[in-house]
Amino acid sequence: MPKILVTGGCGYIGAHTIVDLVENGYEVISVDNNSRSHPGILAGVERITGKKVKNYKVDLCNFDDTFAIFQENADIDGIIHFAAYKAVGESVDKPLIYFENNLGSLINLLKCVQEFSIPNFVFSSSCTVYGNPDVIPVTETTVTKPAESPYGATKQMGEEIIRDFARSSGTKAILLRYFNPVGAHSSNVIGEMPIGRPQNLVPAITQTAIGKIPKMVVYGDDYDTRDGSCIRDFIHVSDIAHAHTLAIQYVEKAEGKLNHSVFNLGTGNGVTVLEAIKSFEKVSGVKLNYEIGPRRQGDVIAIYANNDLAVNELGWKTKYGLDEMMATAWEWEKRLKADAAIFGAPPPELN
Ligand SMILES: NC(=O)c1ccc[n+]([C@@H]2O[C@H](COP(=O)([O-])OP(=O)(O)OC[C@H]3O[C@@H](n4cnc5c(N)ncnc54)[C@H](O)[C@@H]3O)[C@@H](O)[C@H]2O)c1
Repeated sequence: MPKILVTGGCGYIGAHTIVDLVENGYEVISVDNNSRSHPGILAGVERITGKKVKNYKVDLCNFDDTFAIFQENADIDGIIHFAAYKAVGESVDKPLIYFENNLGSLINLLKCVQEFSIPNFVFSSSCTVYGNPDVIPVTETTVTKPAESPYGATKQMGEEIIRDFARSSGTKAILLRYFNPVGAHSSNVIGEMPIGRPQNLVPAITQTAIGKIPKMVVYGDDYDTRDGSCIRDFIHVSDIAHAHTLAIQYVEKAEGKLNHSVFNLGTGNGVTVLEAIKSFEKVSGVKLNYEIGPRRQGDVIAIYANNDLAVNELGWKTKYGLDEMMATAWEWEKRLKADAAIFGAPPPELN
């Protein structure tokens, strides 16, 4: 059973990916310091898969603690590196903690990859690396523009660091550029658990609908798009998760032919923020309380993916449409409310 180290395994995409890896026959260990997550989410993973996943509560910015995990697990076949801070707006306000955490953790991890000759490495990148593109949809060869935020810059720099590392080492690397992951696992046992006020659209929608947020703000309706709001490519988190299993299988088979590859992970459909809200209102039956506010610094105007490469090379096929993304997100938000005693702050253990 190949053994995969998942960093950020208690996070939103990491937990969904662990489920997919375990269901596809991988043994998984996680490293997550729970700076941005609830440790109990792994109990949900266990409930879905029937397998216990060990988490090392370690800050990847601490080299010695990170190194010790590799000493204890000499048989790691691959790494999927999710751990990072991800809030665009926060990164504009606090750029240094983004550079320190996102790049410091990556470099420490790559030093361990080198020391322990780990053959395969998959990195969570983002469509933010494209900045504000001139032409959409973007392909993997679309020229990247200056990042719109320090967060986006950490992903651009992270990609560069990994490219140089892969060229100079025997490790094969895959850079996965996610568009906008949303929704929750179909079991409704795991989903997104934003810490503090959500900065992403869909948790902001569901938290407003449930009454946690009194009124939601749509950041700008004067963009040059079909209804004036920003365009995004929403993609179900379980579709994103499965792409990681396929990426690991792809590098396992690549046998020296590859040092690094890049794949866009989006549906290929551009959806405006206001269209996403309409889809949510339709599937939930809830009229959303929102107002139009000013544009938000760091937001790109319009972006969606050309995903041909992931479809053709990885054999990836997305399963979920926009309405299902919204429906699973809504079911999950209702579960968080119903089980507030389990999911409320401080970060709890699921049972
Ligand atoms: N969710 C999105 O919209 C989105 C879009 C594009 C790319 N990404 C990238 O995907 C990855 C996963 O995103 P997510 O939505 O699951 O985020 P998340 O915040 O839910 O999960 C990230 C996890 O990493 C952990 N972590 C952060 N820094 C750490 C450190 N120094 N040491 C150990 N653990 C640490 C956090 O505690 C958290 O559990 C991130 O790299 C993010 O930048 C996310």
